[in-house]
Amino acid sequence: MADLVHGPASFSTQANALLRKNFTFQKRDIKSNIRLISVPIILCLLLVFLQNWVNKELDKPWNRCGCKCVGKNDEGKCEEVCGIEYSDLNQAVSCSIPSPLEWPPLLQIPESTYRAVQTDFISYGDLPDDSCKISGSCPATILLTGTNKTLGESMGGNLFSSGSTVDYSDIFYSLAYNVLGSESQTKYMNFLEAAFFSNQAVYNVWLQCSPNFTFSLPLEFGSVAVQQEISCVKGLHLWRNSSHEINDELHKGYRNGNPERKINEIIAAYDFLNSNRNGFNVSIWYNSSYKNGKRQSTFGFDKGSSLSEFGIKCLHSGFAWTFCKNVV
Ligand SMILES: *[C@@H]1O[C@H](CO)[C@@H](O)[C@H](O)[C@H]1NC(C)=O
Ligand SMILES: *[C@@H]1O[C@H](CO)[C@@H](O)[C@H](O)[C@H]1NC(C)=O
Ligand SMILES: *[C@@H]1O[C@H](CO)[C@@H](O)[C@H](O)[C@H]1NC(C)=O
Ligand SMILES: *[C@@H]1O[C@H](CO)[C@@H](O)[C@H](O)[C@H]1NC(C)=O
Ligand SMILES: *[C@@H]1O[C@H](CO)[C@@H](O)[C@H](O)[C@H]1NC(C)=O
Repeated sequence: MADLVHGPASFSTQANALLRKNFTFQKRDIKSNIRLISVPIILCLLLVFLQNWVNKELDKPWNRCGCKCVGKNDEGKCEEVCGIEYSDLNQAVSCSIPSPLEWPPLLQIPESTYRAVQTDFISYGDLPDDSCKISGSCPATILLTGTNKTLGESMGGNLFSSGSTVDYSDIFYSLAYNVLGSESQTKYMNFLEAAFFSNQAVYNVWLQCSPNFTFSLPLEFGSVAVQQEISCVKGLHLWRNSSHEINDELHKGYRNGNPERKINEIIAAYDFLNSNRNGFNVSIWYNSSYKNGKRQSTFGFDKGSSLSEFGIKCLHSGFAWTFCKNVV
């Protein structure tokens, strides 16, 4: 008969027993254990696969800034140069742009049918007749006021010159000598000015348009060539007796500002205040609906102030019109 050992078992015996018991348990439950371990492994594999796939997609030529071999280096290998000039329109968004193009300034011009004309609720006789809406020839109207009418009207007359001829060696530079406008909406990012990439005409705002003015300009941006149609819109400048009258007319031109719910848009308005030979003091109203590339659908009552890039302090008054005061 074997010796029976009584008394408490040693630590190692206990640990050994516990281990065996656990091992037996786990062996019986092998399926759920495999599941438990495989979930994170599968998840990791999935992530690795996803990352590779995304990397591969992003690395495809149309998602990458365009590159070109420009020569051979010492080892005879192709020396690649990447840049916007070697990219198409899809690739261009991925390129870094150390010195972006300078675009000529453009006025926001409403569609011909929304431009200001004579109506029952706006009594000024100097506005165009609404028959211009049919022919699509409504002028772009700006309003002027100030303490000195002689000075204000002579400045208004100079606003829309008869334009200069286009110098094909530097098209944008010579275009900037004209007052240009566009119906296109502004974008948040203006590396490519929407006016030149919207299939809409760019307007030359002139005092008088010749009937066959429209022409096409060949423009080149990197490897992209576009034909930009330039047409003419008549610029009309009208004197008003006070800024109060201008406020009223601007407000009535808004859809909710008149009982007929018509749109009668003025391009901009200038108050030359007390300007004279020795000082220029001006307030500007413009429609800020498209500011920052955002479209304000509601009749904004945003108040506050900001400094625009021209050093003009803009006070956002009600009615979605921005009131700017020159602070220089
Ligand atoms: C108005 O401006 C004109 C042109 O600058 C000037 O000749 C005239 O004296 C001014 N009138 C007044 C009342 O200041
Ligand atoms: C416009 O038409 C007139 C006469 O019909 C012509 O003399 C002139 O050269 C034309 N202008 C342009 C820019 O085609
Ligand atoms: C603006 O002022 C002129 C001259 O003072 C006056 O003849 C004209 O009636 C005024 N216009 C309005 C709309 O009040
Ligand atoms: C401002 O521009 C927007 C967009 O074109 C237009 O819907 C709105 O009527 C304009 N506001 C005024 C007061 O003309
Ligand atoms: C500009 O006009 C405003 C409003 O009339 C006036 O308060 C301000 O003193 C003027 N500034 C100058 C420099 O004349």
